[in-house]
Amino acid sequence: MGSITAPVAVPRPDPVTPMPDGRAPRPSTVTLKVTMAVSGTVFALYVLVHMIGNLKVYTGAEHFDDYAHWLRTLAEPLLPYEGALWIFRAVLLLALAAHVGASLVLIVRARRAKGAFRRTGMGWRRVPATLMPYTGLVLLVFIVVHVLDLTTGTRPIAPSGFTAPTQDTSHAYANLVESFQRWPMALFYIAVMLMLALHLVHGLWTLATDFGVTGRRTRQVWALVALVFAVVVMVGDISIPIAVLAGWVS
Ligand code: HEM
Repeated sequence: MGSITAPVAVPRPDPVTPMPDGRAPRPSTVTLKVTMAVSGTVFALYVLVHMIGNLKVYTGAEHFDDYAHWLRTLAEPLLPYEGALWIFRAVLLLALAAHVGASLVLIVRARRAKGAFRRTGMGWRRVPATLMPYTGLVLLVFIVVHVLDLTTGTRPIAPSGFTAPTQDTSHAYANLVESFQRWPMALFYIAVMLMLALHLVHGLWTLATDFGVTGRRTRQVWALVALVFAVVVMVGDISIPIAVLAGWVS
């Protein structure tokens, strides 16, 4: 005769995870998710447009420097020199602060809600999803290094020959080439662009859920869009340090 074992009580996480005083958490998880989605969209569009701008490096020094100079003189004389650029910088900084801030609160809430439970059945999508906090942290470090390298020209991160832009001209091409001629820096950029692709593919996929997209077909199409978007940005950006290392851009 088979023995009957008493059912084991499985603790279930509280789906709302109230605060210790019993009130609903503020800001709400929905508000935080929408903040992540909107700020993430700003960043995704930025990296796409930035990558397209970066590809101008293949049109030669003159075009690339003209483009960098144009970014600083955009909307003159309505705005002062670098006025439009500072507006972009402010929007990006705000988006970055909102994205990082909301992600930290959501990570803490998710850990508290999950307890010992782990999500299963995500297939290959588990890899970029699990890595999100780490790829995000790498991107945060990258942004600081990148700005010191090619915008402020702060040594020793920037190349020794870095030349700052003036009101009349830019030296963005020479700065970029000199930076990527240092192979450790070029490899760093290549590695970070792989992280960026992982972050983008999962981040863009999550947008569908955050904005409430339902329907199997639409979600499949969106997953493909996310993958293509991430790969296009990655390949376009990675090609540049490779082209400099190979001597095709010099
Ligand atoms: C291989 C990939 C990349 C290349 C070749 C590249 C190239 C450049 C260059 C040349 C500049 C300076 C432009 C100038 O002085 O006019 C710049 C600035 C900048 N890049 Fe990138 N970039 C890359 C990837 C990225 C990524 C992935 C991000 C965001 C995650 C990013 C964010 C920025 C930011 C925030 C600035 C500063 C803009 C400013 O305030 O002037 N870049 N990049």
